Amino acid sequence: MSTLDWGNIGFGYIKTNINARANFKDGEWSELQFTDSEYINMHISTTCLHYGLQCFEGLKAFRGVDGKVRLFRVEENAKRMQASARKLCLPEPSVEMFTKACVEVVKQNIDFVPPYESGASLYLRPLLLGTKIDLGVKASKEAMFLVFCSPVGPYFKGGMTPIKVVIDRIQDRAAPRGTGDVKAGGNYASSILSGEKAHTMGYANVMYLDAAEHKYIEECGAANFFGIKDGTYVTPKSPSILPSITNKSLRQLAEDMGLKIEQRPVAVTELGEFSEAGACGTAAVISPIESIYDLDTNELVTYGKEVGPICKALYDGLRDIQYGRTEDKYGWIIVVE
Ligand code: PLP
Ligand code: COI
Repeated sequence: MSTLDWGNIGFGYIKTNINARANFKDGEWSELQFTDSEYINMHISTTCLHYGLQCFEGLKAFRGVDGKVRLFRVEENAKRMQASARKLCLPEPSVEMFTKACVEVVKQNIDFVPPYESGASLYLRPLLLGTKIDLGVKASKEAMFLVFCSPVGPYFKGGMTPIKVVIDRIQDRAAPRGTGDVKAGGNYASSILSGEKAHTMGYANVMYLDAAEHKYIEECGAANFFGIKDGTYVTPKSPSILPSITNKSLRQLAEDMGLKIEQRPVAVTELGEFSEAGACGTAAVISPIESIYDLDTNELVTYGKEVGPICKALYDGLRDIQYGRTEDKYGWIIVVE
C-alpha cells in the first residue's frame, strides 16, 4: 500500500504505476499496451492539439468495507465516451476495450486505491485524442485511447460541507447545438474564465445558464444540479447538459426512496422553491449547496449551512453501493479484486 496521507489528499494528479494505451489506425484499434511512462510523444501538427479533437471520461474505484475494490458504472462511462466520439467524429473505443483498460489500470495500481473510510478514492481518467497529423479542420481518422489514474480526495474542500455558488452570465458553458452534452475538453475551456472569477470572489462554483435565453439552470460547474421540492427530485433537462452518471444513479436511488423524479427545464426563478439543492458528479459526488447568488439580479437563495436530510440520504445510498455496504441490485459495480 502506498504511504500517501490519504485523509488529506485533494483533487489533483498523483503519479501511479501504470497507464493503458491503444491506437486507432487504418480502421482498427491496436491491442492495449501498458506503460509506466507519464508522457505521450506527439507531432506538432496533431489535430487534438489545434482543434480540440478530444474527449475524456471520469470514473472511480473504491476500496470497500470488505477490502474488495469496486469500479462504479464503467459501462455507462464507456457508452458516454462513444457518444462523445460520435459527436466529435473520432474513432469509438469499444465498451469491451474501455472496460478492460479501466479494470487493468485499477489492478496494476491497486496499491493506490485508498483505504476504506479514508474519504479518498482512485479516479480514472480515460482520454480519447484525435492523433491525425493535419492542418485542415476535419475529422481525425487516427486516435489514441488512454486510461490513467490518480488517487483523489474531495473535489470541493470540506467534502459534504455545503458550498456557495454564483450565477454569472459573463460566460456560457455550451450552446444548445454545441458539445455540452458530451465530454469534450472545449466545454471546460469555456468555463475557466468564469470559474476563476468565482473563486476569486469566494465562491466554490459557477452555475451555468442556458446559452439561448439565460433563464434556465444548466450545470453547476463540472457537475449536474438537482433540487428537492415537496418530495420530488428535480433536475434540469437541456440539450447542452452532460448526462451525468451520478445524477442518473441518484434518480434511481431517489425513486427507491419514494421521491418523484422530474427532469425538465428549471428556471432560475424556481431556485427559491427548493428545500435542498446539490451539485452531483463523479468528482463532486454530492456537494450540497448552501446558497446561490445571482450577480446580475443580486438575488440570494439560501438552503442552509447544514446538509439537508434528502441530500444526506442520497449520498449515503450511493456510498453504500460504492463501498459494498449494501447489495448492488442494479449491477452498477465490477469487483476488480
Ligand atoms: N457535468 C459536467 C460538466 C461534468 O464535467 C461532470 C463530470 O463528469 C458531470 C456533469 C457529472 O457527470 P458524472 O456524474 O457522469 O461524473
Ligand atoms: C468528473 O466528475 O469526473 C469530472 O470530469 C469533473 C472534472 C474533474 C472535470
